[in-house]
Order: sequence, then structure tokens, then C-alpha cells
Amino acid sequence: MKTIVCKTYEEMSTRAAEIVADVMKANPSCVLGLATGSTPVGMYKKLIDMNRAGEIDFSAVTTVNLDEYYPISPENDQSYRYFMNDNLFNHVNIDKTKTFVPDGTAADPHEACAAYEALVKRVGPADIQVLGIGQNGHIGFNEPDSALEVETHVTGLTESTIKANARFFASIEDVPTQALTMGIGTILSAKKIIILANGAAKAEAVKKMLAGKLDTSCPASMLNLHSDVTVICDEVAMD
Ligand code: PGA
Repeated sequence: MKTIVCKTYEEMSTRAAEIVADVMKANPSCVLGLATGSTPVGMYKKLIDMNRAGEIDFSAVTTVNLDEYYPISPENDQSYRYFMNDNLFNHVNIDKTKTFVPDGTAADPHEACAAYEALVKRVGPADIQVLGIGQNGHIGFNEPDSALEVETHVTGLTESTIKANARFFASIEDVPTQALTMGIGTILSAKKIIILANGAAKAEAVKKMLAGKLDTSCPASMLNLHSDVTVICDEVAMD
């Protein structure tokens, strides 16, 4: 894996946005695989600025997001659909009908996952997939386990993830305990992957990811199977 170590979060966000922008410039009708969480927010701000400055054009872009809580409505301000609208889509010239997030409202979550997997195969593969990394090494909501899923699936959230995400909800009881997430194979189908990590809390997970082993207790280590992965992190996350 290639690594880019940055001094500041600002610099990380700029480097990540530049890589995404290069993909968009090379192919204006590209497919972007996108992620939520606090880490990519700075990158989205830079992309909005570049769009406003006329440097990048979202009009022909399709996006596929990694995951969504289940059950959750798109109007809930903690849903990942809401997050994407709020942090990117509402501020750029994208056609929202071409932006996809797993359906947190589906009556049958398993059917919704199969439909999402088929959709990613139909519109994809993503030209670039943006990832964050959980403190426990998760990517999307692929949590550490003895076996990891290949395709989009319904998953329970670990205690560690529920605690980490509780900061966004009124109380820990409000954090959904399930999610719909791309599987490891869905993620690896992207042509290019960037994974962003900042802060000391991510250092352990980053170390395990870079140890060069396929370790299901650190799902991000599966990225070692891909030939075009760039890790963009700050100095403390790479400690
Ligand atoms: P964070 O989440 O960006 O909010 O730290 C990353 C993740 O859990 O994948």
C-alpha cells in the first residue's frame, strides 16, 4: 500500500480531494465510492470549493456509498443519506438520482442488500472508493469477526462502534444496532482505493492494516489484496 503522511487534517483533506478530483477530470462520468464519518468531511469541503471554482464537474458523476444504518429514515439527521446530502450533494452540481446509499427503510433488509450489490455491479465498479477506518479496523460496517462477508449484507454493530458513534446521537440507546454495508469484495471491486485516518485513536488499526497480513480482526487489512490503495493519514495515526 502507498502511504501519504500529512502534518495536518487540512493537508490530508486537500491531498484526498486532489486524488478524487483527478479521477473526475480523467472521466467526467466516473463512479465515486463514498464514505461517511467525521474523517472525510474536510475532503468533501475541498471538493465543494473545487466545484464552485469550476475545477470539477459533478453533473455526470454517479456515487455509491458504503453503508447505512438499519433501520433509519433518510430524513433522520444521523442517517448516512442525510449526511451525504448535507456534506456534499446539496452543495455541488450533482444529479441526486445518480447518488446511491443502501436503503435504511427497506421492509426486507436482506433483499435491499442483494439489490444494492446488483446496483454496484451494474453502475460500477467504482473508479475510486474513499474509505475511513474504525478504531477497531472496520471498513464500511465490516466489523472484526472470524469470517468476513464478501457482498453487501446486513450486520450488527459491535459495542466499540456503537460507543464511537454515540457522540452523534442524543443517547447511546438511539444508535441503531444494525447496518447495511458493502462487503469486503464489493469494496475491493473498486479500481482505486484511498483510505483516510487521522488522530491517535486510529494508530492501532492503521498499524494492523499495514502489517501486511490478512487479519479478519482488522477488516482494513483485506485491502492488502488490492493493487492500488493509498493510505492518507496524519502523523499521530501513523505512529
Ligand atoms: P470516523 O469513522 O471518520 O467518524 O472516525 C470512520 C469509520 O468508522 O469508518
